[in-house]
Amino acid sequence: MAKSSTTFTCSACASSYTKWSGRCDGCGEWNTIVEDKGLSKSGPSGKSLGARRGSTVQLTDLATKEAPPPRTRSGIDELDRVLGGGLVPASAILVGGDPGIGKSTLLLQGAAQFARSGLKTIYVSGEEASAQVRMRAQRLGLTDAPVQLASETNLRDILTTLENEKPQLVIIDSIQTMWSDTVDSAPGSVSQVRSAAHELTTFAKRNGMSVILVGHVTKEGQIAGPRVVEHMVDTVLYFEGERGHQFRILRAVKNRFGPADEIGVFEMTGSGLAEVTNPSALFLSERGTPSAGSVVFAGVEGTRPVLVELQALVAPSPHSQPRRSVVGWDGSRLAMILAVLESRCGIPFAGLDVYLNVAGGMKISEPAADLAVAAALLSAREDAPLPEGAVVFGEISLSGALRPGPQTENRLKEAQKLGFTAAIAPSGGKPIEVTGMSLRQMGDLTQF
Ligand code: TYD
Ligand code: MG
Repeated sequence: MAKSSTTFTCSACASSYTKWSGRCDGCGEWNTIVEDKGLSKSGPSGKSLGARRGSTVQLTDLATKEAPPPRTRSGIDELDRVLGGGLVPASAILVGGDPGIGKSTLLLQGAAQFARSGLKTIYVSGEEASAQVRMRAQRLGLTDAPVQLASETNLRDILTTLENEKPQLVIIDSIQTMWSDTVDSAPGSVSQVRSAAHELTTFAKRNGMSVILVGHVTKEGQIAGPRVVEHMVDTVLYFEGERGHQFRILRAVKNRFGPADEIGVFEMTGSGLAEVTNPSALFLSERGTPSAGSVVFAGVEGTRPVLVELQALVAPSPHSQPRRSVVGWDGSRLAMILAVLESRCGIPFAGLDVYLNVAGGMKISEPAADLAVAAALLSAREDAPLPEGAVVFGEISLSGALRPGPQTENRLKEAQKLGFTAAIAPSGGKPIEVTGMSLRQMGDLTQF
């Protein structure tokens, strides 16, 4: 007979261990490993899972059944795009983000729009009383939306409500406040979060409901982070933003029903989140006159081109170990670019502090940013601004060879739309021509 064994789980990244330790080898965080008693054997999940055991369907049978019901669009384009073109019926979605970033605001607005589009929607808040949610709705101008509110944290009560009401969409804000009485640990613990997410998603799938779970990202390890539920859901979205900046980015990191890497851009205003239809203009709006170390990168996020400014500062270092500091980009990628510049182009950065910043609080993960970073570093080092009105993009390999990333034409068109007149890009790939833009192409970093 299987015994339920105690394990230890990292509440930030969900790595599991047989012994407790102070630091998680998986994500490197300290004090995030907590005892995890596992799922209760006698809980409702055990029973409900057994009911369908052993039945299979023919793949060919599925093809003959009618087409799946169409996706529902909320009408908030930035949200619909990130979902892959609207909400898929009976799908499970996780929306993670730092506390206070605007998750509840986004989902209340989303709930209202989905309800107006005809979905029967319930918004379950475990953090605020219904009256508080209603006050927020008032502020957002959504009081006339046909959304049902519930203020509840007990999983059993929530499942009963869902059973009775049979909504098409349920929003759980947040998964960390939910608790199941079959699991014997505090709300927010790894076992509670995992159990609640499992119960809710399986219940929703079985009953043809879509469920959106809100998850707070946590560094302290007091409550379990959204990583614990990432694998249980179809779609994982992260809501990001920098303090001191008004705009927020909703990013798909996993999506069974659409492309990952897609982003939606919003601006937090006094009356809720407003869509930003032209993010490039927003990210470049704070840019002053072109100066040394500043480069405009023509990037692509998902299917959409986005121009962002990269800023580099290179200064003599007073330390024996010069500083390498990056905001909004990958630190090890910066080390690689510096190594390529040193060994392939003979431009040393030893004894120099290097700072790189993606302006506006945007985070970039595309390899096509390599050449723009190299350009910013060189421009900062030489104290020479790049030609005015130019954008830069392209991947750099360890040999110093340049490769065009995907969607070259898309990048150039966006740059042209925003008034840029020149581009520095790798040669190779499809021949490209954008009227009104001068293109400087090169095959190797040494030609820069
Ligand atoms: P909230 O949605 O409660 O964040 P989360 O659910 O992720 O914890 O958003 C909280 C912040 O948003 C709070 O600092 C106030 C701000 N806010 C606005 O600026 N405008 C608004 O219309 C609303 C509702 C919130
Ligand atoms: Mg909230």
